[in-house]
Amino acid sequence: MATRNDWIPWTDHAGRFSALKAAVFAFALYPALWLLLRWGMADLGPRPLTEAIHRSGDWAVRFLVFSLAVTPARAVLDWPRIVLVRRMLGVAAALYALLHLLLYVADQKWNPWTVASEIVLRFYLTVGFVAVLGLAALAWTSTDGWQKRLRHRWKALHRWAYALAGLALFHYALQAKINASDAVFWFGIFAWLMLWRALRRPGLWRLAALAPAAALITAATEVAWYGLATKVPYMRVLNANLGFDPWGRPASQVLVLGVVVVVLAVARKRFFFEKKNQKTLGLA
Ligand code: HEM
Repeated sequence: MATRNDWIPWTDHAGRFSALKAAVFAFALYPALWLLLRWGMADLGPRPLTEAIHRSGDWAVRFLVFSLAVTPARAVLDWPRIVLVRRMLGVAAALYALLHLLLYVADQKWNPWTVASEIVLRFYLTVGFVAVLGLAALAWTSTDGWQKRLRHRWKALHRWAYALAGLALFHYALQAKINASDAVFWFGIFAWLMLWRALRRPGLWRLAALAPAAALITAATEVAWYGLATKVPYMRVLNANLGFDPWGRPASQVLVLGVVVVVLAVARKRFFFEKKNQKTLGLA
């Protein structure tokens, strides 16, 4: 049951202070405050607007992926309360995407015709624009009121977050020039999340198989991207992916994170069983 002050970012549905929500709220504010501070100190490099466009875009993608990771985190860590922060993460993604668009408009000297024609003519901007519109619609309808109004259609509507994340990552990769490593890394994490979803709450063995599967998809995407979008010989990219360097290429980064998830799942299971055993023996 929602209370009158449940809109406050650091309270839960019952209106009680939630340390988890407060921490995520502070985390969501941090990039904006960082940008503001650097802007104020004239410390954003020779092209501050361009730098701010890039940073806000990065954080929009990150928060979007974090919001999609909430359901797997709840299942893997057996942590139902994490759901409390999903809306905040999704709204943060939409707000950073809107800030990103606003900064772009400022960079175009606030000329609406230039902005509109650029969005129509440049494919990567058209893709980004569709993603911004979708994210804004999801953020707007994320409230309890809209949830009640739309009932079962609300879930179907909010499943579009996956497609919008796909579009945002496509925009990210399209705008990358020589180095697409960051875009490919986030695509790899997205691939892991999509596989997790397709397997419908996988058990431990399948969870373990997800790590190499997502890493392979990441490596294949990187090879394909460089092969299609640049003149970098694809064999060079493939070779770089074949040697295992834990934090070297996006594929190995995705593999390491996939393994970390398995370790966390095992640790959580052990902890849970130990607690259960202690309870049965009357020790807890
Ligand atoms: C109308 C909507 C959008 C416009 C006009 C726009 C514009 C831009 C521009 C101009 C760049 C820099 C390109 C360059 O330097 O050559 C960029 C990069 C980027 N955009 Fe967007 N964008 C839009 C939507 C989005 C959305 C919805 C997201 C994510 C949710 C996003 C995430 C990014 C990212 C991650 C980068 C790269 C940042 C980096 O290089 O570190 N953009 N965008």
